[in-house]
Amino acid sequence: MKVLGISAGRKNSNNDAMCREALMGAKEVGAEVEFINLQNLHIEHCTGCTACVQSLFSGKGNRCVLKDDFDWLLDKMLDADGIVFSIPIFEKGAAGIFRTITDRFGPRMDRGNNVIANQIIKEQGGKEIDPRIFKDKVISYMGVGGSDWSTRIQCDCFNHALTPMWKVIDNEVFSWSLGIIMNDESVAKAHQIGKNIAEAAGDIENATFKGTEGVCPHCHNRNFYLDPASTHAICCACGMEGDIKVENGKVVFDFPEEQLEHAHDTLSGKFIHADDIKRNEGRQADLRNSIEYKERMDKYLDFIVSSVPNRA
Ligand SMILES: Cc1cc2nc3c(=O)[nH]c(=O)nc-3n(C[C@H](O)[C@H](O)[C@H](O)COP(=O)(O)O)c2cc1C
Repeated sequence: MKVLGISAGRKNSNNDAMCREALMGAKEVGAEVEFINLQNLHIEHCTGCTACVQSLFSGKGNRCVLKDDFDWLLDKMLDADGIVFSIPIFEKGAAGIFRTITDRFGPRMDRGNNVIANQIIKEQGGKEIDPRIFKDKVISYMGVGGSDWSTRIQCDCFNHALTPMWKVIDNEVFSWSLGIIMNDESVAKAHQIGKNIAEAAGDIENATFKGTEGVCPHCHNRNFYLDPASTHAICCACGMEGDIKVENGKVVFDFPEEQLEHAHDTLSGKFIHADDIKRNEGRQADLRNSIEYKERMDKYLDFIVSSVPNRA
C-alpha cells in the first residue's frame, strides 16, 4: 500500500520535517512511501474557465487547459492509497498554494460530477474516466503555524477532501511550530498521524476519523456561519444547516436528519449542487443571448478597461 507525503512548506524546513516524520510512521507499519515538496513544482491558479468540467460532461476527458505540473501531482495522488499533507498556516488558513490545489481539484475531481459524467459516457459514448477517480482514498492534514493564529486551517483542509470524497483520518493543527523538530510531543504526533494513515490506507472501507472531535457531528469542523438574528448556523465545511445550542456548558450543533442528504461531502448533496449549478449556468447562457444583457455589459466595458503592467 502506498502513502504519499506532500509538503507545502519551504524546502527542508518545518513542514517537510513533519511530513517526513509522518512518512517514517507510515513506513513502520508497512507502507511504501513517497515524498513531494510543492516548491519543486510549477502550479498555476485556476482561472475559472470550466473547460475541465465541460469536457468531462461532453465525454472528452476532464483534462485542464493549464500546462503545468498539476497533472503530474494529481497522478501521484491518484496512485496513492493514502496521503498526508503538511501545510503552512498563512493568515489563519491554508497557504495559497494549497488553496490553489483545492481550486484545481474543483469541478473536475468532484466525485458527483464524475459519477454523472460516467453515466452520460455509458449512454452516449466518449472517453473513459480514469477509474482511480472513483477509488476510495484516505487523507490526513497537518496544519503547521508559526503562531496560534490558526482558526481557518482545519476547515480549509476538509474542503479539499470533500471534492473527491476522500475520507479524512487526521486533521491536526500544530501551533508555535518554528523549530518544531525539537518538540518531542509534536514529532510523536506526526509519527502517529503517519501510522494512522497507513493503517487506514490498508483498510479504507473500515477507516474512521482519528483526530480531535470538533463541533459538527458530521465532519468534526469548528467553523460555522452564524445568523445574527437566530440560532441558525451553517457548517462552513460540510454545509449542513442546523442550530447552535449550549448544552451542559458545551456548544452543540444540532441538525435535522434530512440535512444529511444535502451535506457537501455526500453523493446526494453533490447531485443537488450539480443540478443547481446546471440550472444557473443554463440561465446565464440564455441571458447572455439577450440584447439587454449585451447592452448592460457594454456599459461596463465602455466605462473602464483593466490596467496591465508594461513588461517591455
Ligand atoms: C505570509 C505568511 C503568513 C503567515 N500567517 C500565519 C498565521 O496566520 N498563523 C500562523 O500560525 N503562522 C503564520 N505564518 C507562519 C507560517 O505558518 C510558518 O512560517 C510556516 O509554517 C513555516 O513552515 P516551513 O518552515 O515549513 O516553511 C505565516 C507566514 C507567512 C510567510
